[in-house]
Amino acid sequence: MLWLPALIIWASVSHSCGSDLQFPSWFKFGAASAAFQVEGAWNVSDKGEGKWDRLIHRYPEMITDGSNADVACNSYYLWERDIEMAAELGLQFYRFSISWPRLLPTGFANNISEDGKNYYNKLIDGLLEKGIEPIVTIYHWDMPQMFQDLGGWANPKISDWFAEYARVVYSLYGDRVKNWITINEPLVDCDFYYGEVLAAKQEHFVGPYMCNKNVLLSHAKAYHVYDQEFRPKYKGKVSLANHLVWLKPYSNSTEDQELAEAARQFLTGRYTHAVFSKEGGWPSVVEEAVAKASKEQGYQDTRLPPFTQEEIELIRGTYDYFAMNHYTTRLVRKPRSSEEIVRSLFTYVEDLDAVLEMDPSWPVGYTWYTAVYPEGIREQIAWLKQQYGNVEILITENGYSTGGSNLDDDARISYVNDYLEQVLLSIEEGVNVTGYTYWTIMDNFEWTDGYNSKFGLYEVDFSVPERTRTPRKSAQYYAQLIKKRSL
Ligand SMILES: *[C@@H]1O[C@H](CO)[C@@H](O)[C@H](O)[C@H]1NC(C)=O
Ligand SMILES: *[C@@H]1O[C@H](CO)[C@@H](O)[C@H](O)[C@H]1NC(C)=O
Ligand SMILES: *[C@@H]1O[C@H](CO)[C@@H](O)[C@H](O)[C@H]1NC(C)=O
Ligand SMILES: *[C@@H]1O[C@H](CO)[C@@H](O)[C@H](O)[C@H]1NC(C)=O
Repeated sequence: MLWLPALIIWASVSHSCGSDLQFPSWFKFGAASAAFQVEGAWNVSDKGEGKWDRLIHRYPEMITDGSNADVACNSYYLWERDIEMAAELGLQFYRFSISWPRLLPTGFANNISEDGKNYYNKLIDGLLEKGIEPIVTIYHWDMPQMFQDLGGWANPKISDWFAEYARVVYSLYGDRVKNWITINEPLVDCDFYYGEVLAAKQEHFVGPYMCNKNVLLSHAKAYHVYDQEFRPKYKGKVSLANHLVWLKPYSNSTEDQELAEAARQFLTGRYTHAVFSKEGGWPSVVEEAVAKASKEQGYQDTRLPPFTQEEIELIRGTYDYFAMNHYTTRLVRKPRSSEEIVRSLFTYVEDLDAVLEMDPSWPVGYTWYTAVYPEGIREQIAWLKQQYGNVEILITENGYSTGGSNLDDDARISYVNDYLEQVLLSIEEGVNVTGYTYWTIMDNFEWTDGYNSKFGLYEVDFSVPERTRTPRKSAQYYAQLIKKRSL
């Protein structure tokens, strides 16, 4: 806490002459997308069905605008335009994901799709020709439906199947791809998908915790495959990308501060402690709270599946850097008496009985959950260093949503500028933040929000077959920022 007074002075000075804020030479800028959200071509060639294909076709009413991702940005065909946009922006890297069912139509590694393989080869080679580094997410929520039918991440065999898939990916592309993200935002894929989306959701968290454990084992096995079989010749890096909502106490009372810290362990620690902490395994506050709640609810055992010592060792330390997706902040408090609780991710932590809410003074983007609180990213980063030491941090997602057609997106520019200013302060404080990824390069299929929320630097016209991409004002701003390397 000693740095606080000095920091406040620095921050106020920096505001008055913001244009002097220079990024270090090693700091890298990129933008991101994900296969399911942009590719379309959902049933082309031998591509298998993914769990979101099935979900949306079966329950179109779940998507706010009733749309689907069958065509999306049509990037399966328009990949050359995507590379051109990355080059127009001057990106140093482009983060995209590989669709598991496109590359392995059955999910299993014994049948590799020729068309799937070639698609990602073209994308990777095209980026490299423009001098843009590919950062590749191996799994961004498109579980093969055949595995989902067997429980998906809730099935203990999934960690072996995922490791086999990862081996295929490394062996096809590892000569050119040096930065791998095994799994994107397991918090959302487990807690949201198993806790809220699946029709068979339980009264209390069971599926999300089974998913949580197996997703960590899956990441760890995929990490070890790289470490043992590919790192010696390819010398790349592997991590997993976590979704971090910064959580602040509602008041300065000891009770609220303890509750906020426990909530951080529930929302973040549950997916990071096993990998990044010295001791590994579940955060103890999570273990205790779930055991207590399970007992009160009359369950025989805790709903949180324990790790064996062997599993703890397998998962611990399976990272080369910390990949952080961050958009927003919440205040944490106990429910008020007779308060009606909305049970959803980002509003309530079930086993802690903690309410998460936005400060009414924070502006909100088009998407309801994206309250803007730029200091949150710096506070979040400081917490990571305090928890896990001086690990390299790559910001793998950060972005702002607007609604409707809108090329003059000053709010997006302010968001990026204000968050990056806080990132610079983090670097000033000695945290090793080595890059920033804007989510997203272009408007795309935003899951249950369909095409309503627009996070893109490029606007996409979804009403025409050409899926025309047009740069917004923020695209020009970002290109300038990358060129000048200062705010
Ligand atoms: C692929 O899906 C589209 C709907 O998006 C459908 O019209 C078309 O018939 C399907 N093609 C095949 C080969 O199944
Ligand atoms: C791979 O899967 C495709 C599509 O399901 C099928 O047509 C093909 O025969 C399979 N190939 C092998 C070698 O199993
Ligand atoms: C908590 O204390 C800090 C530092 O003294 C102060 O800036 C902040 O406004 C307080 N927060 C609340 C919610 O009272
Ligand atoms: C930051 O991380 C990078 C990559 O691991 C490393 O090369 C560099 O030395 C680190 N810098 C500091 C100041 O720790």
